[in-house]
Amino acid sequence: MITSRELRQKYLDFFASKGHSIISSGSILPENDPTVLFTTAGMHPLVPYLMGESHAAGKRLVDAQKCIRTGDIEEVGDATHHTFFEMMGNWSLGDYFKAESINYSWEFLTDPKWLGLDKKRLAVSVFAGDADAPFDEEAYSLWLGLGVDEKRIAKLPKKNNWWGPAGQTGPCGPDTEIFYWVGDPNQVPDSFNDDNDLWVEIWNNVFMQYNKDAAGKYEPLAQKNVDTGLGLERVLAVMNGLADNYQTDLFINLIKKIEELSGQKYDASPEITKAMRIVVDHLKAATFIIGDDKGISPSNTDQGYVVRRLIRRAIRYGRQLGIKDERWIAALAEIAITDYQDIYHELERNHDFVIGQFNQEEEKFNRSLENGLKQFAKLSAPGNILSGSDTFDLFQSYGFPLEMTEELAQENGWQVDKAGFAVELKKHQDLSRTAAAGKFKGGLADAGEETTKLHTAAHLLLAALRQVLGDHVVQRGSNITPERLRLDFSHSDKMTPEQIKTVEDMVNAEIAKALPVVCEQMPLQQAKEAGAMGVFESKYGEEVKVYKIGDSQQVFSYEICGGPHVENISSLGHFKIQKEESSSSGVRRIKAVLE
Ligand code: ALA
Repeated sequence: MITSRELRQKYLDFFASKGHSIISSGSILPENDPTVLFTTAGMHPLVPYLMGESHAAGKRLVDAQKCIRTGDIEEVGDATHHTFFEMMGNWSLGDYFKAESINYSWEFLTDPKWLGLDKKRLAVSVFAGDADAPFDEEAYSLWLGLGVDEKRIAKLPKKNNWWGPAGQTGPCGPDTEIFYWVGDPNQVPDSFNDDNDLWVEIWNNVFMQYNKDAAGKYEPLAQKNVDTGLGLERVLAVMNGLADNYQTDLFINLIKKIEELSGQKYDASPEITKAMRIVVDHLKAATFIIGDDKGISPSNTDQGYVVRRLIRRAIRYGRQLGIKDERWIAALAEIAITDYQDIYHELERNHDFVIGQFNQEEEKFNRSLENGLKQFAKLSAPGNILSGSDTFDLFQSYGFPLEMTEELAQENGWQVDKAGFAVELKKHQDLSRTAAAGKFKGGLADAGEETTKLHTAAHLLLAALRQVLGDHVVQRGSNITPERLRLDFSHSDKMTPEQIKTVEDMVNAEIAKALPVVCEQMPLQQAKEAGAMGVFESKYGEEVKVYKIGDSQQVFSYEICGGPHVENISSLGHFKIQKEESSSSGVRRIKAVLE
């Protein structure tokens, strides 16, 4: 028996012993990346460094990263797919490449000092080659050299053995995947077969050696990186010989609670098993999203909409399981928080906020659910298609997420006019980047010049806000596109026109001073003692970068941040605040541009 704590720590320790710096998980909500709602892979917070920006902790990094994938939501309910999961990763930023990466993985998995998995139950796949890039002969030979039988090394196309870019453009490359046979150990097939579910993928090593450009061409990257991802939940199940991830210590307390609340047994029937998995998966994911220091709460847009959808879907499945309580979901959040809070301290910090949001959302949904179901029962669907306007009415008046209406419709053998729904939604709301349209796929931060300028401007803005409104102002979130910056910060009252003007003038006065942006590197503790701003937490005492803007008389802005930034703020031009509005309770939002 190995616990999740032990396994997580083993991974970190192993790579630390190979010269890697342990870094903390980044936020589950990406900073400065307008193209995605959530961090979907361990590499996501590291994109600037994969593109060449220097990382304060060095060129060899290892971490456990909190991830959310909503693209797999239909698969949630099986044994191995989750909305929230932890990806263990080790990185080489232009340091080692294929040989070390493959050798490290093999040693960690098979050496009895580390995981000691049975070599006979392992298989791998490598990139077969196509018009864009050749067969990965090097990876193939390395596996052979380690004693892996050639029948256990599959050569597969891009669809299987290529990773990235996360968005339209960016770093990508061939990968090699490692699989473990979860079937009968005495009947491991001689050859690997990608279609057999008993071969479970446990690790993916990506050799990022190309950059896909806007024209779709694969150009060699200046810096060759390694990006790997090992699924903590899956490997934990494998290590403990468990048939599914939900029986590991990362889920079992949640499952027990659902059994208690519903009076049903987890393995009573496939339907019950699936419903229980969905409930605990969704409520754990919602706990992590709301508990992530950014003050995300259920709403009808963006991340807030995803949380709403997760919570409401969970409640619906809970009802199917026979849970009658008016209030029950917060009990599951309590368990998720207890299970994880010593690894992810933000859950402890945001405990009350999470529980409050769970209770509020549940009350809201309970109020509208009965009425909504009554309304749904009255609807008809000519040609078995439920109209966009009926679907939108359920969404707007009864709080039914689109997916929920789709599921209810399916029970009647109907389809939903999704295009019609989208048209209605557009008419009613300015949702340029709506979560409802399903835009959850990965994407890369635009590290372009405009974004960099706006990023520097955001530092000046935060510093000015603190001077004008007070020291209680801290950043709660930021989102930067090449056109504008958006900054969420803690402050309860609406800003007066005078305050807005003062902040704007202050930022422009700094820009006029044409100050350089200076980057310093130091341990986190030292940065905090020196008064650096930044929502950054670390258990590992890692080195961080601190960006300073100021002159000899006064340091105007001093923030812990990964960068990049402009060299001199004179390039920013004129700063203008376009909008000041409420973001959520106690959090204001500013949208601003550079002209
Ligand atoms: N970025 C790779 C993945 O997510 C490791 O699978």
